[in-house]
Amino acid sequence: MNTESQAVAAKLSRAAIFLVATVNDGEDALAAVRAMCGDLAGFVRAVGFRNLDGGLSCIMGFGSDAWDRLFGAPRPRELHPFQEIGGSHRAMATPGDILFHIRARDMDLCFELAMQIIRRLDGAVTIVDETHGFKFFDQRDMIGFVDGTENPVGQDSLDAVLIGDEDAAFAGGSYVIVQKYLHDLDGWNALPVERQEAIIGRHKLSDIELEDSMKTSYAHNVLTSITGEDGEELKIVRDNMPFGSIGKGEFGTYFIGYARSPTRTERMLRNMFVGDPPGNYDRLLDFSRAVTGTLFFVPPATFLGSAGPGAQSSATPKARDE
Ligand code: HEM
Repeated sequence: MNTESQAVAAKLSRAAIFLVATVNDGEDALAAVRAMCGDLAGFVRAVGFRNLDGGLSCIMGFGSDAWDRLFGAPRPRELHPFQEIGGSHRAMATPGDILFHIRARDMDLCFELAMQIIRRLDGAVTIVDETHGFKFFDQRDMIGFVDGTENPVGQDSLDAVLIGDEDAAFAGGSYVIVQKYLHDLDGWNALPVERQEAIIGRHKLSDIELEDSMKTSYAHNVLTSITGEDGEELKIVRDNMPFGSIGKGEFGTYFIGYARSPTRTERMLRNMFVGDPPGNYDRLLDFSRAVTGTLFFVPPATFLGSAGPGAQSSATPKARDE
């Protein structure tokens, strides 16, 4: 099988644009999106070539309903709409057929690529969320903690995010969950630093993990550490980004988590929102409200490349392998 993955395990970047769009009604809209799948690599090449050190990449993902409309069968085994969680706090599900996760060292590259993509898709899609993310001092998020430290790297990162034999027809693909969080920064900053550290499970200034004996059972890094049947750690790859609007008083974290199975991220979310055991929830949520929630499948780049006009049937991985 010749599958090349999209840049899901790309290095964390300094700038990002997250575009979530719905696909408009009608065959023309579907045809335009399929054509975009085939053109995407060329767009990234053309814009990226203007700054060779810019590290431009773009990932395109598809929601469950959109997959059926665009590509039909076969479908990725674990693709489903984001499942809302109502526990101590609520993780809401919001619409989204397509995700563009655009990353680069500088915002000009991200912005230009987003503009070119959306110009080509004019009339075919409606943008339902657009978030511009930036890096904040020392890779910190808006709550002042270094974010991303425990991400797996190298082969571990690929093992965490890329589908393998468990769904051979879609090997090299990945699942991604995005959620936009708004923080009550005044409330958070009013907490003593020791309390914030107990909530996150790490020291704020040094980013060193708290000793196990000092960790609370509801620390963020306790509730999001999950294991498989054999006790092995089940990892995801996150590329969270701060975003905000001073004028609107909006300060947020855009959560984005890639995994070879969405159940990993869903288990973490249940631990955070419902609690493990129920009620022992993530206190970060007392100061952070999820205002979006969507799940996408990220097909291999080779699938995207063969999904253009006239190649609809050859877009299926099965056909591609033949
Ligand atoms: C308000 C949104 C969030 C913020 C501000 C946040 C922040 C952080 C911070 C500061 C860390 C510690 C440093 C690190 O290892 O990266 C962390 C760790 C982590 N977070 Fe989050 N996070 C958020 C949401 C989520 C969500 C929704 C998930 C998964 C569903 C998640 C999964 C993880 C995981 C897996 C770790 C690493 C745990 C470990 O192995 O130590 N986070 N997060």
